[in-house]
Amino acid sequence: MERTAWGEVYRHGKDLYTRNARPGERVYGEDLLTDHEVEYRHWDPWRSKLAALLLKAAPQPWFVSPRSLLYLGGAHGTTVSHLSDALPDASLYVVEKSPVSFAPLLALSRRRANLYPLLADAQLPERYRADVGEVDLLYQDVAQRTQAQIFAENAEACLRGGGRGILMLKVRSVTQRRSGPSVVAEARRTLEQRGWKVRATEDLTPFARDHIALMITG
Ligand SMILES: C[S@@+](CC[C@H](N)C(=O)[O-])C[C@H]1O[C@@H](n2cnc3c(N)ncnc32)[C@H](O)[C@@H]1O
Repeated sequence: MERTAWGEVYRHGKDLYTRNARPGERVYGEDLLTDHEVEYRHWDPWRSKLAALLLKAAPQPWFVSPRSLLYLGGAHGTTVSHLSDALPDASLYVVEKSPVSFAPLLALSRRRANLYPLLADAQLPERYRADVGEVDLLYQDVAQRTQAQIFAENAEACLRGGGRGILMLKVRSVTQRRSGPSVVAEARRTLEQRGWKVRATEDLTPFARDHIALMITG
């Protein structure tokens, strides 16, 4: 097991793992592996776009360990659980609007002290900005048509000066007709008009088709 530059994230051959903060527990049926009496959870890049990005693009400054993070679109907590492992000392605020997805996310959060789940709509950051305060990293994976606007509004509400963002842009949620590059260009324009800069992009093929990761700063 080889430690990466990013928190408690490890590589074993071609695979990514996180050090299991809850030894013996699986979150989504992932493989567990013990090495020198430490247990690790396999981080599946086919199930988690962040794992796909780390495999394709690490190391980059976006991955330096934040002390606080706002995660939009937590769903059942697949990626969130690995971030909880990876950043044991960070505060991770997780927004999810679907009550059905929120239930397992809440159950996960009860077992992990660094998770703060919020049942809320990411289009209305004014509803949770007081709970979240200022974070170092904004991560968004909501698969909505207005993804760039949602990112900008949350960044304006909750990202500290000098903070960084990762936007998982789902091309097909924006349009069925236009190409990936034109959707990225439009998102870039929207973000730039609001004072945010896209510093790098990464196509997540083959792990997540139609998804492009945008790395953003102020
Ligand atoms: C692709 S899934 C996220 C998967 C998750 N990030 C992971 O890697 O484990 C997108 C999630 O975003 C949620 N979502 C969509 N629009 C949202 C919004 N406006 N506010 C909050 N959550 C939203 C959906 O309910 C869904 O659970």
